[in-house]
Amino acid sequence: MTKSSQLAALKSEIISKNICPDLAAQAHNLVMGDGNLDAEIVFIGEAPGKNEDLQGLPFVGAAGKFLDEMLATVNLERKDVYITNIVKYRPPNNRDPLPEEKQAFWPYLAKQLNIIQPKIIITLGRHSMEYFLPEQKISAIHGQPKRITFGDHKVVILPLFHPAAALYNGGMRQTLMDDFLKVPKVLEQIK
Ligand code: URA
Repeated sequence: MTKSSQLAALKSEIISKNICPDLAAQAHNLVMGDGNLDAEIVFIGEAPGKNEDLQGLPFVGAAGKFLDEMLATVNLERKDVYITNIVKYRPPNNRDPLPEEKQAFWPYLAKQLNIIQPKIIITLGRHSMEYFLPEQKISAIHGQPKRITFGDHKVVILPLFHPAAALYNGGMRQTLMDDFLKVPKVLEQIK
């Protein structure tokens, strides 16, 4: 089975098991993810926003534009990486995903990562970080790569601030851009 058909099957499973029915009922699309299925780097955000819900693609609004700009600074494009979220439906009014929503989607994110098999997982914001680096504070560990064992393989987690949170906050924006410049070095280290 190709990665693409495995991901399609996973999407069908989320629908047939009726994961987070309240979110599903008000969403236009289930946003699974987008990008290169053989990518070494996977980015994980929080949940789709309005534009993502309408287009069915992750990070296509303002935060996504900022993410694209940062990718360009390290000579990467979207086609080089894979981008997804922990929660796959848009929460109403862009509220934070609830703990039970994150919990419900976590096994599907784990399966998705097992299909793609990235070497580096870049978490965007605390919601996706907390699954890989529990009990940690993003303010303390952002930009610091950590090696962990995930499922049956080793992976490096690079926790970053969320681009939407950093977009209009000058200090955080600069910190995120500085942290992002560590990506090539982390890639080098896993070769
Ligand atoms: N913010 C996220 O966390 N994910 C998206 O897909 C868009 C904005």
